[in-house]
Amino acid sequence: MPPMPSPPREGTAVTLRRAGGIATLWIDNPPVNAISARVIAGLAEGLDAFEADRSLTGLVIACAGRTFVAGGDITMFDQPGFTPRPFNALLARIEAQDRPVVAALFGTVLGGGLELALACHGRVADPATRLGLPEITLGLLPGSLGTQRLPRLAGYAAALRMISSGGMIGAEEALALGIVDALAPEVTGAARAALAGLPLRRVSGLTPPDDAAPVLEQARAAAAARPWLPALTELVPCLEAVARPWAEGAAVEEAAFLRLMASAPSRALRHVFLAERAAARVPGADAAPRPVAQMGVLGAGTMGGGIAMACANAGLPVTLVDASAAGLERGLSLIDAAYAAMVKRGRLTPEAAAKRRARISGTLDMAALGPADMVIEAVFEDMALKLSVARELGQVCKPGAIIATNTSTLDVDAIAAATGRPGDVLGTHFFSPAQIMRLLEVVRGRDTAPDTLATVMGLAKRIGKAAVVSGVCYGFIGNRMAEAYMRESEAMQLEGASPGQIDGVAESPDWIGMAMGPSRMLDMAGVDVGARTVIEWIKGGQGPQDPAYRILCRTMFETGAHGQKTGQGYYRYAGREALANPETQGLAARLAAEHHVAARAHADEEIFERLLFPMVNEAAAILAGGIANRPGDIDVVWTAGYGFPGWRGGPLFMADEIGLDRIVARLDHYAATFGNPYGYWTVTPLLRDLAARGQRLTRSAS
Ligand code: COA
Repeated sequence: MPPMPSPPREGTAVTLRRAGGIATLWIDNPPVNAISARVIAGLAEGLDAFEADRSLTGLVIACAGRTFVAGGDITMFDQPGFTPRPFNALLARIEAQDRPVVAALFGTVLGGGLELALACHGRVADPATRLGLPEITLGLLPGSLGTQRLPRLAGYAAALRMISSGGMIGAEEALALGIVDALAPEVTGAARAALAGLPLRRVSGLTPPDDAAPVLEQARAAAAARPWLPALTELVPCLEAVARPWAEGAAVEEAAFLRLMASAPSRALRHVFLAERAAARVPGADAAPRPVAQMGVLGAGTMGGGIAMACANAGLPVTLVDASAAGLERGLSLIDAAYAAMVKRGRLTPEAAAKRRARISGTLDMAALGPADMVIEAVFEDMALKLSVARELGQVCKPGAIIATNTSTLDVDAIAAATGRPGDVLGTHFFSPAQIMRLLEVVRGRDTAPDTLATVMGLAKRIGKAAVVSGVCYGFIGNRMAEAYMRESEAMQLEGASPGQIDGVAESPDWIGMAMGPSRMLDMAGVDVGARTVIEWIKGGQGPQDPAYRILCRTMFETGAHGQKTGQGYYRYAGREALANPETQGLAARLAAEHHVAARAHADEEIFERLLFPMVNEAAAILAGGIANRPGDIDVVWTAGYGFPGWRGGPLFMADEIGLDRIVARLDHYAATFGNPYGYWTVTPLLRDLAARGQRLTRSAS
């Protein structure tokens, strides 16, 4: 066997290594070998050297580190004058080589990485490789000829599926589709071996397959179904152009890509992508994390069970403790049912489900939490109970173990103090169902140690959550903003608007495009859950002392209209179907009379403004008060946890696109319209100031 070239060690993004008459171009651009200007220049130089050395019989393109190229460098897209041309010219040059070129694939071969591989004459993949064209998730299309090469190689149907879903496929499927030629565990060596006698198969020269017509129909239907995603619309002419001469198809793709880059949905989605990664970098938490190998969860209710599953799904053993045998049994059977449902829906094999389930062991013995590296307490949301449990955990948990209190409203500092070791403590706010919902608010207490925070942020990533750090305040980031949104939704109902009218505006992609409007959301979450918190908040003196404040929700709580689970809420339910509920609308009218709320006609625009603008105003207060670290964090909370559409970029990105000056003017307008006795419409100084200076809250993506 000829000597194998070794991966490059320092500095350079691309190195050409020669061994045994074969050249290897090593890309080394951590963390994910994204294609940057430096990588393109390095590849071009490497090709120069390869072309000049006729003694070499072939070329392998390989990567150092954890993955083959995982895409174009997203941060580069926002640089002025960016175009995919230099990379595309390089791909053409690779494909035109007169000696074979093979890509050695492993890790996540995504976007520009897959397009690079498609320009080679052959592809060998590690069996664990995953491949995809995720550009659509950024509101884009593949811009380096993916729309042109993939249909030629794998057929239109596979190309449409991969491009329009943005999902990844496994190596086996890629092999079956002809996207890769062979699977081998040691890919670089296998790629070298594959060079011998490999025909110079140039994908751009292949005849397009004949499955175009039905697939184009599907592509048109997909575009019509989601008109707010222009990438789907732009995909149709790109696929149509595959049948035309190569250069024409390439031009169609390039024009579409550049239009999409500048489009609002793509700028928004790129903002969310970068904001999610920025949120993981927490100021003041750059300490080394503590090791976490064993988890504990206290409280086997819906939340505790979901948290245990989230951890077990990521490979962590979990001790689940409940104070009552009945509670534990119910909790474990809910977990069993959740896994069984996943198996039934084909989301998990029975073996994988059994393996995950086996990582959760239930017990009534609190002392069993002693060896855990981190314990998440998820007992009922009641301060006295939380405090007593905190005292106990402070004793039971081993020194250095982290104690998290899972809460959506309670004072994390008070709970931390009760443990007697507040440095080890923080709050977590998982969203239900915790094994599915991506958002995790991590609540940093006054005394939370930097390494406690760093550990929990690491754990969040491990269990697949989008984690955002919040300071301690009522509702943290998400629910504090949601309070303003709910307040206006209910105020408008007292003024005569129906829940359906308000939800319709919230859900319409012409206005916001929320997954669920405010009333539908509260009916699902439980009116009682929402009302209880509001009642406590008002009772504690922090909430508005306005007798009409969320009076509809508070009264529904008393009358037992608790939403979907009781069949009666803002809507009435026939199964899962939400129908208009004359009783609740009648109640709203009675309460309006009692509280002297004047009826009013609501244009869609007013509904939109009254839902969104007070939330933006509250977000500005959250930023000014240091509760959120950055505006992008707030957008992550709403896109990952509250069904705010990613293509709007979150409430703050959307506010920036609307213009902060317009938002301030409208808040002032409503202050004048309604009077402002409780300060609901008082513009946060930060917002007024930014608006006056013509600035944005979020960074502008060009
Ligand atoms: N461009 C620039 N940086 C990228 C990147 C890209 N295409 N993809 C990932 N990164 C960076 C992340 O910002 C992060 O950097 P940080 O650690 O400094 O915050 C780092 O790589 C790791 O990414 P992360 O997502 O945290 O790791 P992961 O292992 O969970 O996932 C990927 C890795 C590649 C699967 C995931 O990052 C991904 O899907 N990236 C997008 C790929 C893509 O859309 N490519 C097409 C672009 S057109």
